[in-house]
Amino acid sequence: MITDFSEALIVQEVSPRDGLQIEPTWVETVDKIALIDQLSLAGFSRIEAGSFVSPKAIPALRDGEQVFKGIARQPGVIYVALIPNLKGAQRALAAEAEADELNLVMSASQTHNLANMRMRCEASLAAFGEIVQYVDGSRVRLNGSIATTFGCPFEGKIDEDRVLQIVEAYQELGIQGITLADTTGMANPRQVDRLVRRVLQRVSPADLTLHFHNTRGLGLCNVLAAYEAGARRFDAALGGLGGCPFAPGASGNICTEDLVNLCDEIGIHTGIDLPLLLKLSRGLPALLGHEVPGQLAKAGRNCDLHPTPS
Ligand code: COA
Ligand code: ZN
Repeated sequence: MITDFSEALIVQEVSPRDGLQIEPTWVETVDKIALIDQLSLAGFSRIEAGSFVSPKAIPALRDGEQVFKGIARQPGVIYVALIPNLKGAQRALAAEAEADELNLVMSASQTHNLANMRMRCEASLAAFGEIVQYVDGSRVRLNGSIATTFGCPFEGKIDEDRVLQIVEAYQELGIQGITLADTTGMANPRQVDRLVRRVLQRVSPADLTLHFHNTRGLGLCNVLAAYEAGARRFDAALGGLGGCPFAPGASGNICTEDLVNLCDEIGIHTGIDLPLLLKLSRGLPALLGHEVPGQLAKAGRNCDLHPTPS
């Protein structure tokens, strides 16, 4: 059981990137900007605002430059861009975008990296080396994500030693932030506990992020297991949107408002404005043309009581 809830949990909002990348309906640039601007007022310290990948791979996010240029940046909020290669870094750091942090992504599984990034892991790592050199001397931060850390939809189980080796490879390149990503919700709390404790021997809690998808309903269980093991930073998406288009069966991230509600109810501080999140989440079906998976927006908070029946 968790005994100490006194340490804050940091939520990085990823709906503008992970959330929108898989949506079949085009979301207008102005609507993306409006969403990010609202999220910027909700108390997040970090927002993944888009990606700079091939527009053929992810057409939904092909307007990355206009989005990053158009948002009203709030002081204290780090605006992150996901990138796969040097070209992505150049786009994200150009005057048209000016991202604060680059999130470099590679999968632990060769098969998923080939499907998602169309290259082997060795080629991804070589590209990351070029990116490190390219940003040398600039103020931009680097984060390295390890997709399919907890399981791959093609290869199944991933050897935990392999994940540790990738963490070390990222660190040797000079990448400080590390994200362990459960791309298709294959993680379980025992596995999370074990791996987080091992990774925290090499990475400080301030530099480690856990990225869970709720594909098999275990998302928030995994958050609690990771928190208890010492992790403090988590990705989540408004409405529980999200998923990787190159991973069969992928579905949404853990839902931000469901996560914040959990934290509020058990007394873990997040600093996030839950009523504002609920308002934004309830606007998603109109924006996207379908219901979204998040549960709190449908149920309301525990304190949102109904009139007594007469
Ligand atoms: N941004 C924009 N365009 C890019 C790009 C980037 N970061 N990287 C490559 N391209 C362009 C190239 O210029 C080239 O354009 P052209 O056809 O007009 O000449 C084209 O994409 C193909 O380039 P190539 O280097 O051969 O890439 P590829 O086809 O082997 O694809 C990736 C490699 C990494 C670019 C692609 O697989 C990708 O963007 N994957 C990201 C998928 C993703 O975002 N998944 C979800 C998040 S984890
Ligand atoms: Zn994801």
